[in-house]
Amino acid sequence: MAERQGLRAESCHFTLQGAPFRLLGGSIHYFRVPRAYWRDRLLKMRACGINTLSTYIPWNLHEPEKGLFMFKEHLDLKAFVSLAQELGLWVILRPGPYICAEWDLGGLPSWLLRDKDMKLRTTYSGFTSAVNSYFDNLIPRVAPLQFSNGGPIIAVQVENEYGSYSKDDQYMKYIKEALLSRGVTELLLTSDNREGLRCGGVDGVLKTINLQKLSYGAMQSLADLQPEKPLLVMEYWSGWFDVWGELHHIFPAEEMIAVVTELLERGASLNLYMFHGGTSFGFMSGAVDFGTYKPQTSSYDYDAPLSECGDYTAKYHLLRDLLQNYNSEPLPEPPPLQGRQAYEAVLVSQYMSLWDALQYAERPFKSEDPISMENLHVHNGNGQSYGYTLYETTILSGGSLNSRNSIRDRALVFVDRKLIGILDYRKQELVLPAGKDARTLSLLVENCGRVNYGEALDAQHKGLVGDIALNHTPLKGLAVHCLDMMPSFLNCVHSGQWNPMMETTGCPGFFQGNLRVDGEPRDTFIKLPGWTKGVVFVNGHNLGRYWCIGPQKDLYLPGPWLKSGNNQIVVFEEQRAAGKIVFAENPEQGRIIDVSKHPFCTII
Ligand code: GLA
Repeated sequence: MAERQGLRAESCHFTLQGAPFRLLGGSIHYFRVPRAYWRDRLLKMRACGINTLSTYIPWNLHEPEKGLFMFKEHLDLKAFVSLAQELGLWVILRPGPYICAEWDLGGLPSWLLRDKDMKLRTTYSGFTSAVNSYFDNLIPRVAPLQFSNGGPIIAVQVENEYGSYSKDDQYMKYIKEALLSRGVTELLLTSDNREGLRCGGVDGVLKTINLQKLSYGAMQSLADLQPEKPLLVMEYWSGWFDVWGELHHIFPAEEMIAVVTELLERGASLNLYMFHGGTSFGFMSGAVDFGTYKPQTSSYDYDAPLSECGDYTAKYHLLRDLLQNYNSEPLPEPPPLQGRQAYEAVLVSQYMSLWDALQYAERPFKSEDPISMENLHVHNGNGQSYGYTLYETTILSGGSLNSRNSIRDRALVFVDRKLIGILDYRKQELVLPAGKDARTLSLLVENCGRVNYGEALDAQHKGLVGDIALNHTPLKGLAVHCLDMMPSFLNCVHSGQWNPMMETTGCPGFFQGNLRVDGEPRDTFIKLPGWTKGVVFVNGHNLGRYWCIGPQKDLYLPGPWLKSGNNQIVVFEEQRAAGKIVFAENPEQGRIIDVSKHPFCTII
């Protein structure tokens, strides 16, 4: 009779189906890859000698409004897991509910923050009741895909790096039970970085470690904690993420291969985080704040073995050569690359100012005092989660406008719709020009991404989170417009009244052009030379943010989101529209920083 025993960690080696098993894992997040490319990326993974796929599950996408669950199309987790099985990969699920992952609020839905007493990642009842309802919906969908039911899921991770947060000593027990009681039967594990390991873990669950280099006796500390258990590096960081305004992080291929080789020689198992990073499309990228707030880029290339658009890198080839030695069968040939094309530049033909577009947004919400975006009465009482919020009021004088550090995260300030300046966490004061008549003061506040790591998760409200003062007097009587750039709004904008593009066109505004594709659409990269900062939408897909400060210089546009014929490109530009949208076959790599020489970079 065939052995039906799943992944076991009962000695120094894993066993699967009763036989010794070396876990050679890699992370790909289905929510960072267009669905049409899931197969391509997983085939490339398999051809590299990886035997196990791991993925996080982002709660904020699966339950965008309280009680509204989305598990279809690009969020069809079951289809992703089943595809992995079809292609010969085992699966480790990492359902959080907190996932970190350079994802807005570490994957937690922002509507949780409407509860002013919220204590995220604790056993506070407002949090656990939300988790219970989410898990009631999520776990029964994936439980049938576990190994014991004939599926590919061989392990499930309990929370994520809780050792570095550790605010509630009952919490991990609660999450573990929440998984078990809903039918999770496979091996449970926790994952922590070297520092978090000491406080991490929960009884009866395998501890694993996250690292990039073998310094500080990291592996030994794991072995000391669990002498009779297999060693698993749950996140072997193949590269690192980027934040706006700093350099592009790389981790040299040779260094990565040297560490992976040593880990394998020492008998350890590992999971490459990331094997393929992909893109944090839309407004999903997170932020870090270790004293200074730093929003992350939309590209999640991560300097991983497969690049953002699925290209093979030097890391891929070296890794494949190495992993061949740990695979008993010859590895399949890597699939051919997707074609790419640098389309002809698109000239922007039409524009609509933000002020004209306001008529297509929800009616403004009136608030006597500043109010955060989460607390707006929009989206069935769930508040606004992402994007921009416009606050307007009447002023009767000029003078000193002081944000009192209440702006999250960046505001363009206008008087009678003329740009006066920008306020953010660094710059908190601005002089408004004198004037005696009633004038409109507008603050276009952008949520640049909620932090995904650290102590401050409960304080991630965005928009205006407190008073703003003009000459020491708090502003009152605000009209608040939710501009989260959802498809319903953009569709109205699209069919609204556009103006022909002119030299003098003012910003902020929407800029529209047509990309003509002849034949089969291909992947491409969008560049916006001369533009400053904004968001790009192609045929309704939000590709993410661009910002001239870099390091990201292009936006990945996947071919499957284009069609043969006409394609609509809409750019929302905050400050200066250059009129031309350019395409490139390859992303431009700006200045880089080598994380192997700057270990302080990788402190998560
Ligand atoms: C930690 C987290 C991951 C990710 C990485 C950095 O290990 O667990 O989710 O944030 O750091 O990329």
